Amino acid sequence: MSGIEIDRRLPEDFFSAALRDDVLKGLTADPKWLPPKWFYDARGSDLFEEITRLPEYYPTRAEREILTARAPEIAALTRAETLAELGSGSSSKTTLLLDALQAAGTLRRYDPIDVSEAALLASGEQLRRRYPQLTVHAVVTDFEERLAIPDADGGPRIVAFLGGTIGNLLPEERAVFLTRVRANLRPGEWLLLGTDLVKDPATLVAAYDDAAGVTAEFNKNVLRVVDRELTADFDPDDFDHVALWDAQAEWIEMRLRARRDVDVRLKELDLTVSFEAGEELRTEISAKFRREGVESELAAAGFALRRWWTDGEGRFGLSLAEGV
Ligand code: SAH
Ligand code: TRP
Repeated sequence: MSGIEIDRRLPEDFFSAALRDDVLKGLTADPKWLPPKWFYDARGSDLFEEITRLPEYYPTRAEREILTARAPEIAALTRAETLAELGSGSSSKTTLLLDALQAAGTLRRYDPIDVSEAALLASGEQLRRRYPQLTVHAVVTDFEERLAIPDADGGPRIVAFLGGTIGNLLPEERAVFLTRVRANLRPGEWLLLGTDLVKDPATLVAAYDDAAGVTAEFNKNVLRVVDRELTADFDPDDFDHVALWDAQAEWIEMRLRARRDVDVRLKELDLTVSFEAGEELRTEISAKFRREGVESELAAAGFALRRWWTDGEGRFGLSLAEGV
């Protein structure tokens, strides 16, 4: 048993009930789509960790480079007592922040927040060993539907949202989300936001369509989740992984393209869904940013950008913003 506290904020039937609504909506729409949070069951979280180690997937390494260089400055500027992290996953880059806040002598508490209980349990075990004195309060929730950044009395909080995960939200969703994050904080508290940056399309597409096929497996994992939770009979091998750069919207779009005509029976929904050969199911966007855009989206939500850092190659951006 991990010694950390786990706060389960999702209803018991979340994975069936909310998934059921999303699948019903998405698979009967034209074009068909599924929202990305369903990628992350235990296997999905493991596959994502594997993605972060792929040679083509530069964002994790680029963001780690920035955090390594800047964590002491972040700790000195914020003097945070509580670090909360949205979509914390394995928390592997987070140790850079925890170490710096600990060295500055201000850190008391870490609140990882994720929809994947499996990821929180696995990282909680490691954190307990590495930081035996730290209070770790993990929250299982959906940060879009039920954002809950735990209140903490005492000193300032910093909320980290790393990995470019904000790019998985549509622009309108981002605006709502950032406004809610701001509403959870007091003036003078902080947001640390990681954003992948616009760059040449070949580099971007390769990061989402790796040679080893791990991203393809990850993308198809959403079909396995639907099969398991809704007694459906998707065969992942009936679909090809597709990653496209949309130059207008400046995002990568992930899709699953039917290799032949496919009928899928979703027993739990009493629904049959038909795909024509070549038809695409949209599964995920990953928006890429520019500094000006990040700054204005933050400002619109009530955050003032205080620092902007990139890695040496200018691939990834890290923003430190203050609630105003
Ligand atoms: N922060 C880590 C992991 C990024 S992957 C890193 O930078 O490497 C995205 C993480 O967000 C996953 O752990 C996933 O489970 C979580 N996530 C995705 N959608 C979510 C949602 N709607 N609510 C809460 N967590 C979510
Ligand atoms: N937040 C990650 C990103 O946008 C998530 C991600 C990486 C992802 N590779 C993926 C999501 C492949 C779906 C499919 O980079």
